[in-house]
Amino acid sequence: MVGTLLSHLGKYKKDSILTPVWMIGEVLLEMFIPLLMGSIIDDGVEKGDMRHILIVGGVMVLAAGLGLLFGVLGAVYGSKASTGFAKNLRKAMYDNIQTFSFSNIDKFSTSGLVTRLTTDVTNIQNAYQMILRMCMRAPASLIMAMIMAFYVNARIASIYLVAVVLLGIILFFLIRVTMKYFSQVFKRYDKLNESVQENVSAIRVVKAYAREDYEEQKFSKASEAIYKMFVKAESLVILNMPIMQFTVYTCILVISWLGANMIVAGDLETGELSTLLAYCMNILMSLMMLSMVFVMVTLSIASGERIAEVLNEKADITNPENPVMEVPDGSVAFEHVNFGYYQNAEDFVLKDIDLKIRSGESIGVIGGTGSAKSSLVNLISRLYDVANGSVKVGGIDVREYDLEVLRTEVAVVLQNNVLFSGTILENLRWGNPDATEEECKRACELACADEFIQKMPAGYETHIEQGGTNVSGGQKQRLCIARALLKKPKILILDDSTSAVDTATDAKIRKAFLAEIPDTTKFIIAQRISSIQNCDRIIVMEDGVVNGFAAHEDLLKTNEIYRDVYESQMSGSGDFDAPGKED
Ligand SMILES: Nc1ncnc2c1ncn2[C@@H]1O[C@H](COP(=O)(O)OP(=O)(O)O)[C@@H](O)[C@H]1O
Ligand SMILES: [Mg+2]
Repeated sequence: MVGTLLSHLGKYKKDSILTPVWMIGEVLLEMFIPLLMGSIIDDGVEKGDMRHILIVGGVMVLAAGLGLLFGVLGAVYGSKASTGFAKNLRKAMYDNIQTFSFSNIDKFSTSGLVTRLTTDVTNIQNAYQMILRMCMRAPASLIMAMIMAFYVNARIASIYLVAVVLLGIILFFLIRVTMKYFSQVFKRYDKLNESVQENVSAIRVVKAYAREDYEEQKFSKASEAIYKMFVKAESLVILNMPIMQFTVYTCILVISWLGANMIVAGDLETGELSTLLAYCMNILMSLMMLSMVFVMVTLSIASGERIAEVLNEKADITNPENPVMEVPDGSVAFEHVNFGYYQNAEDFVLKDIDLKIRSGESIGVIGGTGSAKSSLVNLISRLYDVANGSVKVGGIDVREYDLEVLRTEVAVVLQNNVLFSGTILENLRWGNPDATEEECKRACELACADEFIQKMPAGYETHIEQGGTNVSGGQKQRLCIARALLKKPKILILDDSTSAVDTATDAKIRKAFLAEIPDTTKFIIAQRISSIQNCDRIIVMEDGVVNGFAAHEDLLKTNEIYRDVYESQMSGSGDFDAPGKED
């Protein structure tokens, strides 16, 4: 995990190395100050040597100033390194997510990905900065102060050794318990994040179902649990303080007592005692910082693992080595295709699909929800890969095409499609960035979107809100169709894309397709038989197998399911999921 993350340091490696160097510089200079102070007291004050006081005092100011400078440099380089590292991590994750196939995306939740890109990266950034600044500084300061203390007076310095070892043991156990709590807190935190994101993005549904109270309670519960955990964990962390202070003051007491006795006996000088006391503080502070680094690092381990998970996820649909760069025509063939969403699934979602579709044909696809209509068409533009068998477009296996080429030629209007925030024109050009305004208008006419766009206040410059909330469902669908048409694809797939469009407009769109893009192979998934009955041929799907594949008239004669649904829909009730059960 650490290796994966660090490989994204990039140009911030230099800053990452320099930060600890500056920090060690700071420590070295800091270490001199107590020695100098001791000298001022012993050689200056006690002997009444003003000159000595001034000189050593001057050196002290210089050392302090330089130490400050190094400290500032360490802070600056540390921030640069850690924020830069965070930037690189975010970019690497974002880039990798862009390569994900649908099945890669299925593995992560959207809110999970957002949390990883934001909160988790921030955790790593803070921990990294802390590590850079403290992981060298604290041990260095500890060891240096220890050496200096032994140099001044070994007998008294051995008291530190005892204190450090004792404190180290106590801290170790404290941290272990704390870590347990914190790792639990973070798991719950994830849950809370997920529920917040889900609720906020579906706030309209929550309101429509008057579920605010329920959601509020759910949230309060989750947040209360986290609060309690945090209090537990934090109160352990805060135990650090009294333990620390108790040790510090005990040390000072013992040293003062021992030191005073030694001074009276003439074994120690007053200045040396004050030097030793200063080192005592130094040593214990470093220990405290070390413990904080440990806590910080543990907190970020979970985040690091979550980031590494995204970085290590390999896109399972990639370009072949020598990709075919041109799609010869719009013919489609399924050759004994099996397909499942999970690799080891026993039951395939699509079972032994074998179909041949000519270029330019219009194909209706009909079947109950869950009968795998969407799964079937998603294989054509290689949104998913088949388990076995093959899907061919223009006579060539889709796995041999360059992905971008294939997806430009096979335009899909997905079942739950989205618009992006921006003007209508910007949204349309998503399909084809080079489309002229004329072409955009033309596509909108074909998709029957022109009429309502004309009526909008700013026409084609009207701003679409995030998620397309300021257009109706049917208008959104028509815009999505226009966007797909702008690609001028050889194959156009409409996955239930006119479900929210009224029947008359639906018919108008289909008529326009027939007249204006006769050479494009069209797949139209629909619930209403009226939407597809004029197609050249119709696929009847049932539970992942093709139940019938023929023209409307033939299906009426030969296919029982089709006939049932047709009759129930003609009598004005029932749809594919409950054929005619109402009467
Ligand atoms: N992304 C997915 N991950 C796992 N299972 C899925 C996914 N999408 C669809 N399925 C399952 O595959 C089956 C067929 O779904 P789908 O092709 O969407 O049917 P339809 O479009 O006919 O309603 C369903 O049982 C559904 O639960
Ligand atoms: Mg579907």
